[in-house]
Amino acid sequence: MTEERYGTPDAELEIERIRLDKLADTLDPSTFDLLLGAGIGPGDDVLEAGAGNGSVAVWMADQVGPTGSVLSVDIDLRFHAEVPDHVEVREFDLEGDDLPREAFDLVHTRAVLQHLPAREEVLAGFVDALRPGGRLVVEDGVFLGFAEQALEQPYRDIHVVMATGAQQEWRDPNFGLVLVDRMRRLGLVDLQVDGRVWAMRPGEPAGDWWFLALERTLPRLVAAGITTDDQASEVLDQVRSPDFTMLSPVHLSVVGRKPT
Ligand SMILES: C[S@@+](CC[C@H](N)C(=O)[O-])C[C@H]1O[C@@H](n2cnc3c(N)ncnc32)[C@H](O)[C@@H]1O
Repeated sequence: MTEERYGTPDAELEIERIRLDKLADTLDPSTFDLLLGAGIGPGDDVLEAGAGNGSVAVWMADQVGPTGSVLSVDIDLRFHAEVPDHVEVREFDLEGDDLPREAFDLVHTRAVLQHLPAREEVLAGFVDALRPGGRLVVEDGVFLGFAEQALEQPYRDIHVVMATGAQQEWRDPNFGLVLVDRMRRLGLVDLQVDGRVWAMRPGEPAGDWWFLALERTLPRLVAAGITTDDQASEVLDQVRSPDFTMLSPVHLSVVGRKPT
């Protein structure tokens, strides 16, 4: 493992593409159930906010059919999938650009708000963008306790550094905790909450999205003197061993309806 191999822009881009795909593979099945439960259906106009690789937008297009529409937005469209005609993919900054008011029957966002300093205003913008009776579906992380789980050395120390360092980088990795309160204050009703934790194992998308982040971060930790090259290799061997299993962060979803 060297800084050269993992530190080049092309390698970083490829790792990010793979990570977004693994995240989508892990979360899409429960997201689709959630959206069906929230009532997505033919003729709906829907917004996918912070679309990543666009897998949810493509699935939404099937659900709303040709009489509906999907607007799929992200600040970075490099990883977005090809889409059918009734999907518009738009480069869009959720913190700077304005959404149309009362334009959507359903708005969905996943693993995005925790990254945005202006998340409170962005959430309010989603509510404004809903038609009366429309549903807001938000999925976000709760990393509380993720750093403290039982793990063997040498990974344990590295995990604590990574999980707590990541918390600063991700602005508020526990935004999931306040979602219900914020959505209620914004006037949404019929609030429904669910949460998931899964096993993260090597060779499975649910684990690899995190282990790829680890792989990308280790050279930086070596450069900062937090670990050594030898120990970094040991850590990678440890998390790649077939029997390695750890807990994911909590993934929380909240669905609310805008009153008519
Ligand atoms: C962790 S990824 C989640 C992607 C996708 N929602 C998923 O769950 O698979 C976060 C996404 O938010 C996007 N994003 C970050 N800041 C944004 C902003 N200000 N406006 C729009 N999208 C943003 C990123 O480009 C990235 O695609």
